[in-house]
Amino acid sequence: MSLLGGDVHEDATASAARTSPGSPGTGGSPAPHTFVDRKTSDIIWQDSQHRVLFQTLDLIAHPDSGPEVLQRLRDYVNSHFALEEEYMASLDYPGLDAHVRAHRRFQKEVNSLFHNSDPDSPEFLSAASLFLTEWLARHVMGIDKELEAFILESGKQ
Ligand SMILES: [Fe+2]
Ligand SMILES: [Fe+2]
Repeated sequence: MSLLGGDVHEDATASAARTSPGSPGTGGSPAPHTFVDRKTSDIIWQDSQHRVLFQTLDLIAHPDSGPEVLQRLRDYVNSHFALEEEYMASLDYPGLDAHVRAHRRFQKEVNSLFHNSDPDSPEFLSAASLFLTEWLARHVMGIDKELEAFILESGKQ
């Protein structure tokens, strides 16, 4: 699955069909993403940064958002991933390489948003928001949870 391959509508449709539990309204216009209000980590900085990421992804789909929100997303993604990677490096985290590869894949998808032929299209931005939100949700509830446990175990959060 990739935004780069032009299959964004297919991905977004599949994503919408598997709407997160608790999301109001299945089908029709995109429902607000529930992850904005969901705790994803017992580490304060990690949890609060995840919330901002989900909020920013929601903003992208908002019709009144300007192009600066894409820049904000890219900057925030880069700084959040850099912080997690600093922790992984400083704690000699065994899953560092796989986690960094996952971050780079996501960053590549975010960067691809800037190269779309019609980056301001509401349909494109809505589909991109859904696709990236689903990817991020899997990441923060998957390998980020493993990292969270490792950091908490170290006592250096
Ligand atoms: Fe994270
Ligand atoms: Fe991560």
